[in-house]
Amino acid sequence: MRRKLQRFLDNASQRNLLEPGKPAFDNVLGNWNRDIFGNDRQLVVELGCGYGELAVALAESSPNRNVIGVDKRGARMWVGSSDATARGLVNVAFLRADIAELDRYFGPGEIGEIWITFPDPRPKHRDARRRLTSPRFLNTYKQLLRGDGWVRFKTDDAELFDYTLALLGNGIGVRSLAYTKDLYHSPLLTEQSGLQTRYETRFLERGASIKYLEFQFHSGRPARHTTARP
Ligand SMILES: C[S@@+](CC[C@H](N)C(=O)[O-])C[C@H]1O[C@@H](n2cnc3c(N)ncnc32)[C@H](O)[C@@H]1O
Repeated sequence: MRRKLQRFLDNASQRNLLEPGKPAFDNVLGNWNRDIFGNDRQLVVELGCGYGELAVALAESSPNRNVIGVDKRGARMWVGSSDATARGLVNVAFLRADIAELDRYFGPGEIGEIWITFPDPRPKHRDARRRLTSPRFLNTYKQLLRGDGWVRFKTDDAELFDYTLALLGNGIGVRSLAYTKDLYHSPLLTEQSGLQTRYETRFLERGASIKYLEFQFHSGRPARHTTARP
């Protein structure tokens, strides 16, 4: 508990971590590049970034892009925020916020790429709306992504993966969809898709196969609000 409190105290003075109470927090919508990064580079957003390993690795491997990790748990993001500071990375930031309210922090078309990494599977049918790949979330991502923007999704959970694939083939309106149920034996494995999060490393150590998909949205058509059963 003391460690967690210390992390919250540290977060309060971390420049790369935005959270309620900090002046920049309430004004980021539409202003990430102008106010936070001071340049005009593409924004990459990782949803549910946890300890921030991927956000930091993406920032390090793509100095020409700005990366933002989003999570509601500040004590976890402390790890990524501190690591980014120690590495001198100026193109990564962390946002403590609820992903259900993503449109309070990003404007239409402001995001260039979205990563959804090992989200909670929420297997109960009554929790389907809370899955980060449910139609209401997908609709928000579509609104906030640039027309040519990509969504990239990784999970170890077969049911969540199949649920997501079924939705994408069912009126959501996507293009360029590619997927694999075993990323590390697939041509979809790239330097980028092979960057690992903390949960991913754990799952791989247990022998799990990593499911991965990527797609772009068709412009226009909104995602249909059907709820596919797992
Ligand atoms: C299973 S962990 C995965 C963390 C990280 N992506 C990884 O692979 O190591 C899921 C993360 O999503 C975050 N999360 C879940 N729902 C969220 C929400 N609605 N808003 C913000 N963060 C959320 C949790 O706090 C947690 O850190």
